[in-house]
Amino acid sequence: MADIVPLHYLEYGQGMPVVLLHGFPFDHTIWQAQADALQDSFHLILPDLRGHGQSPAPAGVYRMDLMAQDVFALLDALHIERAVWVGHSMGGYVTMAALRAAPERITGIGLVATHPLADPDDRRAGRLATADEVLSEGSGMVAQTMIKTMFAPGFDLDSPLARVLFDLMSRTPPLGVAGAQRGMAERPNSVETLRAARVPALVIAGLGDQIVNPDVMRQMARDLPTARLVEIAGAGHMPMVERADATTAALSEFLRAIG
Ligand code: MLT
Repeated sequence: MADIVPLHYLEYGQGMPVVLLHGFPFDHTIWQAQADALQDSFHLILPDLRGHGQSPAPAGVYRMDLMAQDVFALLDALHIERAVWVGHSMGGYVTMAALRAAPERITGIGLVATHPLADPDDRRAGRLATADEVLSEGSGMVAQTMIKTMFAPGFDLDSPLARVLFDLMSRTPPLGVAGAQRGMAERPNSVETLRAARVPALVIAGLGDQIVNPDVMRQMARDLPTARLVEIAGAGHMPMVERADATTAALSEFLRAIG
C-alpha cells in the first residue's frame, strides 16, 4: 500500500506475539522495563510509530487507521498473523483503529492511560494550532507543556526520569508531532468498536492521570464486554515508567491468561 511507512522496531523473546505501542510524542523506549520483564515468556514487538523515534516522519495527517496499517504491515513482514496489541494513550487510539479494521488479527487488547472518545471541538482546534506552531517553533514547546501534566501530582519534574522523557519528547521531529496531532484531531469515537470487541481486554489506569480522567477509563472498561480494570495508585499518565513493576505485573497476568 502506497501510504505505508516502514517502522523502526525492536523485537524480543519468543512465544505469543505482543505489540507494545507507545503514546504521543514518545517512542518504544517507554516500554523498556516491561520488555525486560516479559521477554522470557512472550514475543514482544516494540515499534516506533510513524513520525516518532527512529521511524520516518513524512509530512501529512497521521490518521489512527493509517498508523494501524503501518503496524499491520510490520507484522506482515514478520510473518505474524495475530497478536495482542497493547497501546498507551495515542497507541491505544491506534489499537482501537486496528480492532475496527481487522478484529480477526487481534488476540487481545491492553489499553493503558487511553480512552475511546473523539475530541471535543476546542481540543481539536487546539491540536491543529499546535500542529502549525510546532513546525515553526520546534517540538520543545510540546515537551514544555506536556511534562507539567504527564505524571501523577507531586512527581519531581527535576528527576532523572522526568528529564529523560522531556528530552525524548523534544527529540520527536516537528513533522511527526504535527502529523500525530492532526491525525488525533480526526479520530472517531471508538465506544461502539469496544462494545463489539470479543477479545480479552485489560485497562490500566493511573489514579493520578491528569491527561485522561480515571473515570473515563472506568467507563471504557465497562464498555468492553470482557475487560479487567487495573487501577494503579501513584501513577499518572505514564504508569509503565512511574509504577513500572505494577504495570508489568498487570500485563503479565493478562498475557499469561491469554496464552
Ligand atoms: C498521549 O500520551 O499519547 C497523548 O496524551 C494522547 C492525546 O494527546 O490525546
